[in-house]
Amino acid sequence: MWPKNSVAQLLGTAHPIVQAPMSGASTPQLVAAVCNAGALGSLGCGTLPGEAIREQIGNIRAATNRPFNLNFFVHARPAVDAAATKRMRARLAGYYAELDLGQVPDPDELFPPFSEDQLAAVLEARPRVVSFQFGLPAPETVQRIKAAGSLILSSATTVAEARDLERRGADIIVAQGAEAGGHRGTFSDDLGAGSIGTFALVPQIVDAVRVPVIAAGGIADGRGIAAAFALGARGVQIGTAFLGTPEVAMLPAYRKALLGATAEDTRITRVFTGRPARALRCRLTDEVADADALAFPLQASLLAPIWGVDDDKVQSAFMPFWAGQSVALMREMPAGELIEKLAAEAQARMPH
Ligand SMILES: Cc1cc2nc3c(=O)[nH]c(=O)nc-3n(C[C@H](O)[C@H](O)[C@H](O)COP(=O)(O)O)c2cc1C
Repeated sequence: MWPKNSVAQLLGTAHPIVQAPMSGASTPQLVAAVCNAGALGSLGCGTLPGEAIREQIGNIRAATNRPFNLNFFVHARPAVDAAATKRMRARLAGYYAELDLGQVPDPDELFPPFSEDQLAAVLEARPRVVSFQFGLPAPETVQRIKAAGSLILSSATTVAEARDLERRGADIIVAQGAEAGGHRGTFSDDLGAGSIGTFALVPQIVDAVRVPVIAAGGIADGRGIAAAFALGARGVQIGTAFLGTPEVAMLPAYRKALLGATAEDTRITRVFTGRPARALRCRLTDEVADADALAFPLQASLLAPIWGVDDDKVQSAFMPFWAGQSVALMREMPAGELIEKLAAEAQARMPH
């Protein structure tokens, strides 16, 4: 049995477990498998245009009629800093020469923050949940999404961010501790402010807001889920633990690197995209200083040609293999089985 006040009822699921949105890695197959097993599947749509989102929603709905979550980025539009760009292009030039890739390109925005095009796809699909990373969109956009019948989620990495999200209309807040894999949700001015661990962050956010809180970061099995509930969370969001499922989209080099990895192999770094994110340490994170990174997502655009090289060694040296500190707890099994296991393990430990 789950506690009566868990977010399961709100989410329309059997279990108060959210499979984290993972841009690039989450697939309609993963989302559907998670939903069919009784949890909330999430699709990372941050980099996708409306048409691609519609197609992926079609694939999800062909495989499940359960509630799901669509996730978007609401970062500030980056300003190009000419001096910083010149420095970063010079810093990366050696890699381009080594890999025979020609000139380092000019920075490019790659994808816009949550757009009208994406909003149209959301309003049409009316998913149960719409979640945002790096804050929330404008108040009128939040209102339109809510009026269409979707719940709004966003991640906080500090108490102040959680209060801000509640004031701006978030229905549920994800308290994302520094253990988490992938991007920090941090949206306060100081990007370094949000590096508080899950254990310290969750109870403080629970005390600070009235809306339900979901814990994220470092949770990979029933022990972590039960601990999150003991800290006052009413649900969990889990990412890294799903990287061992066959339903995720993943390069073979990434899959291989994850299998032997431990917490000490992960780093929070800005060198991949310009925003702090936890990934496996690699040649790029060892050699390029965080302080030099361009604004999100311009930094990624300077690296994109390197990421396009179809070679395991190059990929392992330069690509973001996102992973959280619980990476060694990852289990290789189908997503549906993982949900059943997580739910059974957690329920056996739940205080009644
Ligand atoms: C591979 C990967 C990709 C991620 N991509 C996104 C994303 O697109 N949007 C988002 O809101 N969070 C993203 N996250 C962060 C998760 O939402 C979540 O905070 C995190 O996975 C929880 O910590 P855990 O990895 O320790 O379970 C990503 C995480 C991982 C591991």
